[in-house]
Amino acid sequence: MKIISTPLEMQHAALAMKRGGRRIGFVPTMGFLHEGHLSLVKIARHHADVVVLSLFVNPTQFGPGEDLGRYPRDFERDRKLSEAAGVDVLFAPETAAMYAKDASVAVVEENLSRGLCGASRPTHFRGVVTVVSKLFNLCLPDVAVFGEKDAQQIRVIRRLVRDLNFPVEIISGPTIREPDGLAMSSRNVNLSPAERKQALCLRRALDRAEVLQRSGERDAARIRASMVEAVAMEPLATIDYIEIVDDETLEPVARTDRPTLVALAVKFSKTRLIDNAVLKPGT
Ligand code: PAF
Repeated sequence: MKIISTPLEMQHAALAMKRGGRRIGFVPTMGFLHEGHLSLVKIARHHADVVVLSLFVNPTQFGPGEDLGRYPRDFERDRKLSEAAGVDVLFAPETAAMYAKDASVAVVEENLSRGLCGASRPTHFRGVVTVVSKLFNLCLPDVAVFGEKDAQQIRVIRRLVRDLNFPVEIISGPTIREPDGLAMSSRNVNLSPAERKQALCLRRALDRAEVLQRSGERDAARIRASMVEAVAMEPLATIDYIEIVDDETLEPVARTDRPTLVALAVKFSKTRLIDNAVLKPGT
């Protein structure tokens, strides 16, 4: 596995791979890898000849007072896991190399980014969309793989690719869960043992939504109320949002007759967890 730490070297390596006729699969990450990331590597490998994985804790997608400083980092661990997973190129740039001190250009998605996570993290998607655009320009992927746990992110990235004509296919990989149902996240290590137990309320709230939908309930307010109740049972949990939105437009819906995204963000002290499920009318 080749390790690249400068943007220019990455771009040259990607250009050389492309000139050699090789299809590049790309998995962007912020590191502290877990089974979820490794499952995305598998998908990328299936669709490409070489897999590039980026490790970059992107400061511009964290707002003031968020957990940038506490975001878990362990390069050596990530290097070993990447190598074992069959990553061909590990791209791990420094922040100073990624952003000029006087950087003044950003990429903004103006519609899908407004609600859900964007409502409580108003600069988050500007940071994500900008860094993903930069990473696409550096890694030149034919296919890029994103996890479905970040439901809003993947929809925003698809919009970025559509609207700015990036020549890359976006593929999503299913959320990978711990045996007890908690969605895998690099942030889970920051939970105390008590918070870790109570964090199961995210999955429980989604289970309630799915059970209600299966039983024929289509009233979004009633489904939401049941989810709120599931999270509110846990004293260490603070609801950031619980939303029921159209799966495509991400606009709030009153009824779940069309494919609907049920998404929630819950805080445990400074650790904010997200999860989601898609309710289909036939389910
Ligand atoms: O999903 C993430 O880990 C990040 O938002 C991403 C896509 C790597 C951009 O920094």
